[in-house]
Amino acid sequence: MTSRRRKPALDTPKSIVLVGLMGAGKTLIGRRLGARLGLPFVDADAEIEAAAGCTIEEIFERHGEDAFRDGERRVIARLLGGPVHVLATGGGAFMNEDIRREIKENCISVWIRADLELLLERVSRRDNRPLLKSGDPREILTRLIDERHPVYAEADIVVDSQDGPPGPTVERVFAALQEELRRLRNTADGRQEASA
Ligand code: S3P
Repeated sequence: MTSRRRKPALDTPKSIVLVGLMGAGKTLIGRRLGARLGLPFVDADAEIEAAAGCTIEEIFERHGEDAFRDGERRVIARLLGGPVHVLATGGGAFMNEDIRREIKENCISVWIRADLELLLERVSRRDNRPLLKSGDPREILTRLIDERHPVYAEADIVVDSQDGPPGPTVERVFAALQEELRRLRNTADGRQEASA
């Protein structure tokens, strides 16, 4: 019997970086997308926890948000310097100018967009997000939507996260990536022709 390995379904020269608010589904969609693309999946928050040897909540408690952001910037720079992969970032990462520049220059960014009600429903399932503990999650998320959505909108691709199983959202990300890669190839071909 011959063993057939599944070929990656899309040939991407760049890492795919998922951005968006807490509860948008970046980790779940990222893991599924990695499998779909035949690429490794990395979760930035899990990498930050592994590097720090404690949870994100503990980092916030012991050292404060600034120290967390500093670690986040360093860990993401390290990850993006590695081989092509799918990366789920924490909700604040793309708000950092250095991280955003790095992603824009070297990666394909995907904003996983979700509305307030869906985010609230999803974040209520777990109690591990320090930013939501300083007040009413609805008010906090409303403010974060105002502050962050205009910045997330700078991502290369925007896909709405659906309620329910992640499959349909993953497929829409996949289709949008296909389109983006085609566009990038055409732009590169156009440049070559112009300089020939
Ligand atoms: C944060 C989002 C969290 C985590 C940290 C801060 C944010 O990640 O990085 O609690 O600033 O929005 P998720 O978006 O994966 O929940």
